[in-house]
Amino acid sequence: MKKIFITGASSGIGAALVKAYAAHYRQETVTFGLLGRNAQALQQLAKLINSDFNANAKVYTVDVREAKAMQAAADDFMTAIGTPNIVIASAGVSRGTLTEHPEDIAAFQAVMDINVMGMVHTFSPFINTMAKQKQAQLVGIASVAGVRGLPGAGAYSASKAAAIKYLESLRVEMKPLNIDVTTVAPGYIRTPMTDINQYKMPFLMEADVFAQKFIKAIERKRRFVIIPWQMAWLSRLMRLVPPFLWDWIMRNAPHKQRTEWDWL
Ligand SMILES: NC(=O)c1ccc[n+]([C@@H]2O[C@H](COP(=O)([O-])OP(=O)(O)OC[C@H]3O[C@@H](n4cnc5c(N)ncnc54)[C@H](OP(=O)(O)O)[C@@H]3O)[C@@H](O)[C@H]2O)c1
Repeated sequence: MKKIFITGASSGIGAALVKAYAAHYRQETVTFGLLGRNAQALQQLAKLINSDFNANAKVYTVDVREAKAMQAAADDFMTAIGTPNIVIASAGVSRGTLTEHPEDIAAFQAVMDINVMGMVHTFSPFINTMAKQKQAQLVGIASVAGVRGLPGAGAYSASKAAAIKYLESLRVEMKPLNIDVTTVAPGYIRTPMTDINQYKMPFLMEADVFAQKFIKAIERKRRFVIIPWQMAWLSRLMRLVPPFLWDWIMRNAPHKQRTEWDWL
């Protein structure tokens, strides 16, 4: 039986991954741990994969910032279902931030806590138990925004750069425990996170197409993958650009919206 625990399952990339994995494993039994804060969306997804693909799910309405609640969710999943083969940290938030606006400090904090500490809280409770089983993989969703700093998105870029480095450390640390670690850095994927962007998004990809490519990358145990491939090439170029040229290229770059958050 396949067991997959995934955060950010209530929307966008996470929900697309759940549907794609349910279809992918339709010949086997697959049980998901679906975690997010939107209980209704998670229940609806659990129902849908059960009726369409005969897949089962346990729903966890938890904020990834709550380390104790994350531990409790992981313990419950491992007791009720067993040790997951794959744990995917997809929960994340994106919001435009500008350091000169003091009211954005709370947003900086939330983005860092959710996108970085949320990932640590997701993996930590599973590691000791996963180390004892044959197939074990941790997958963190980073972003191309973590390759270079994007103006207007300082919090998001910093959080994704931190996620990339954290996952790089983790990958080597997990080797002796026989746990594979994959960093997935999406370019622009059509989800509620990008639906609000009013600028042109190069190589924008549908979430279900992304999910198919994601599954292949995970099965190949890729260490670091950027999807789509066009963004992978662009990222290679982005890394090579010297700071003065980067500043010039980015001088008129569109900024992510600084919207109000009611859940900080
Ligand atoms: N879409 C893109 O183009 C793109 C590109 C690069 C990277 N990414 C990354 O991909 C991941 C998924 O993004 P998406 O595009 O699917 O966005 P989305 O549709 O907005 O989904 C975000 C998910 O994260 C969950 N989440 C947010 N804050 C949370 C919290 N405090 N606790 C628990 N769950 C939380 C949300 O669940 P609830 O609302 O239920 O809490 C939701 O399921 C993120 O890490 C994002 O940074 C996306």
